[in-house]
Amino acid sequence: MRKIKADVYAVGAIDWDARLFDRLIPLPDGTSYNSYLIKGSDKTALIDTVDPIKSSVLLDNLLMFPNAKVVTNPKCKQMLIDLLDISEDSFITVEDGETLSLGNKTLEFIYIPWVHWPETFGTYLKEDKILFSCDFFGAHLATSSLFVDDEATVYESAKRYYAEIMMPFRKQVNANIAKLDGKKIEIIAPSHGPVHNRPDFIIDAYKDWASDNVKNEVIIPYVSMHGSVAKMVSYFVDALIQRGITVKQFELATMDVGKLAIALVDAATVVIGSPTVLTGPHPCAAYAAFLANALRPKIKFASIIGSFGWGGKMVEQLTALMPNLKVEILEPVVIKGHPKENDFVALDKLADNILTKHKELGITK
Ligand SMILES: Cc1cc2nc3c(=O)[nH]c(=O)nc-3n(C[C@H](O)[C@H](O)[C@H](O)COP(=O)(O)O)c2cc1C
Repeated sequence: MRKIKADVYAVGAIDWDARLFDRLIPLPDGTSYNSYLIKGSDKTALIDTVDPIKSSVLLDNLLMFPNAKVVTNPKCKQMLIDLLDISEDSFITVEDGETLSLGNKTLEFIYIPWVHWPETFGTYLKEDKILFSCDFFGAHLATSSLFVDDEATVYESAKRYYAEIMMPFRKQVNANIAKLDGKKIEIIAPSHGPVHNRPDFIIDAYKDWASDNVKNEVIIPYVSMHGSVAKMVSYFVDALIQRGITVKQFELATMDVGKLAIALVDAATVVIGSPTVLTGPHPCAAYAAFLANALRPKIKFASIIGSFGWGGKMVEQLTALMPNLKVEILEPVVIKGHPKENDFVALDKLADNILTKHKELGITK
């Protein structure tokens, strides 16, 4: 139990050793599962989330404190009934903007849907100007510091968190940031990661990530079995660097997908590299395309570079995996076997094409 302010405590757990969240998301720096205790003069509140793993604690608490009520919104109530089998009479439901007095402390409930579940809501402790923001502004980071003390580290962890679960809901992220605009917030206490005592740091980062701005960057997730695509990528990366474009290359068979997700937050262009395997893309490339499609980054342009032995539908199949991406597809470069002189010319042409497009957006230096 660690004190945030008078009668406000952090009572969660630090999970230093966690390495995979939801059997999907790599956690290079562990995480924390935050809960907060607020002791009012009349009532005590425990702020917690609906996370099915953590919330079994909620059930234990209800058994230990039979008079306790779960205060939540109607959507969350239904989820708790569905996911945790909590009985109907344990709930008090609240509407957006409603308040609850704990005596000398007042809680205001603020609906912030889709960051990142439909029922997400924040709780604003008026007297102390603390926003308990649930997943919003969170980070997967195990640290002994209660408050953010190293903004560079937290920035990376928070961007990973945003990329993996918030990015598909960019519109709602912006709407929710706007909704918080009038509130005087001195502390943001999220459900994962350290507590923010300089809220502008994380709010400004979110505004940037969720804005429509893209950077003069090309992301190249690629895989190569026998070296042909690897040679194409190597040449292509150099061609882009020569043109003043920032490049981020990711080898898909061994990579941390979180790093790819982070890179997708603000890049203008993605170019996937894949060999042809059993008439389609290599499964690792298909996974990258599927993931990018699900994460709905704000990229503007996409293309494919690849190699084949005899024939197939690699480009068609990869493109079909990304229907959500509102991108302009730039002429792919697909070659037979290892790259030869003409193939390098085609890669130069694609690099020129990308530079022209980035110039048109006004994002080149
Ligand atoms: C398991 C396997 C399946 C393949 N299937 C196809 C195919 O269906 N169509 C095709 O044109 N080439 C196919 N190829 C050939 C590769 O696409 C080709 O050799 C390509 O140049 C490999 O690129 P890489 O050197 O970057 O791995 C296959 C190769 C392997 C190893």
